[in-house]
Amino acid sequence: MIRSVLIGTGSALPRTAVSNAELAQRVDTSDEWIVERTGISNRYIAQADETTSTLATEAGRKALEAAGVEADSIDLIVLATATPDQTFPATATIVQSSLGCRPGGIAFDVAAVCSGFLYAVGVADSMLRTGMARRALVIGAETFSRILDWEDRTTCVLFGDGAGAVVLEAQDQEGETPRGILATRLHADGAHNQLLYVDGGPSTSGTVGKLRMKGREVFRHAVVNLADVLREVIEDAGLSTSDIDWLVPHQANARILDATAKKLDLPPGKVVMTVGQHANTSAASVPLALDQAVRDGRIKQGDLVMLEAMGGGFTWGASLIRI
Ligand code: UT7
Repeated sequence: MIRSVLIGTGSALPRTAVSNAELAQRVDTSDEWIVERTGISNRYIAQADETTSTLATEAGRKALEAAGVEADSIDLIVLATATPDQTFPATATIVQSSLGCRPGGIAFDVAAVCSGFLYAVGVADSMLRTGMARRALVIGAETFSRILDWEDRTTCVLFGDGAGAVVLEAQDQEGETPRGILATRLHADGAHNQLLYVDGGPSTSGTVGKLRMKGREVFRHAVVNLADVLREVIEDAGLSTSDIDWLVPHQANARILDATAKKLDLPPGKVVMTVGQHANTSAASVPLALDQAVRDGRIKQGDLVMLEAMGGGFTWGASLIRI
């Protein structure tokens, strides 16, 4: 059976780290409030020469190196972002060219905000299993600092910039414990648009707009939706929660991560948590956390890893992968 096997991971962060204390010098907030409510201590903010495509390219290059494959063997790039370099063309096409991937291959962006990486993985997996491509670079990359209202303390302290990438390869996997993506579920409910959105766009204001969020309501929906979709994916794969070696969740708020793990009876030690250092990097957060846990040796080949995310739309999803 053809499965999409993860053969490499990579990530990239902007040069500039910004601590809560530094933020508190220009926004009416405090380190204590941010840490207590979110678990965030630090975030990375892109400078003028750092864009979504430069971060995505660096993360992609590291993923290719880790996989030990050449850029020109990549025939599919799916890039999840809500902060593209330009309204068009897709940032994926910029990355294709800057990495030297195969000209004529497929390259496009996916817009599902914080769930974008899960959507990108789902789409890439379908295309690999149906033979449309053989080797894919799947990237989540964001520069949310560019769409934050730096006067709004209820949102600007929560987000950061970064990118993460994985290389997926179509492989024939037999046996009882095949490697690769075992199950994915994606969902959307457009009724909640006004709880988390950007107040501009090419077709409405003609501007980029700024992020707006009713955090408390988003929090409530996130815990319920994430626990539900995780149960669905575990059931689809014919496994149980206790089989999961690592949960790599979207890094929005340490309290959401704790609550989700608790609902599923997952010990906190099985949850990869990077929100403290990176803050919420939207579509980049899951592959950034995954890369960190692979590189520090926690996640190893053979481990059963659950990825999950929830974000604007609302959109949410989860994917179970044997590494
Ligand atoms: O990635 C997409 C998904 N997004 C999320 O998952 C975000 C989900 N939501 C959250 O993470 C939390 O709801 C927040 C971290 C955004 C907020 O935490 P909260 O415990 O829900 O706080 P709150 O919004 O209810 O605000 C509590 C108080 C308010 O003051 P009053 O009205 O009680 O006097 C706020 O004005 O905290 C105040 N506040 C702040 N104080 C200091 C809000 N932001 C700040 C701030 N610094 N930065």
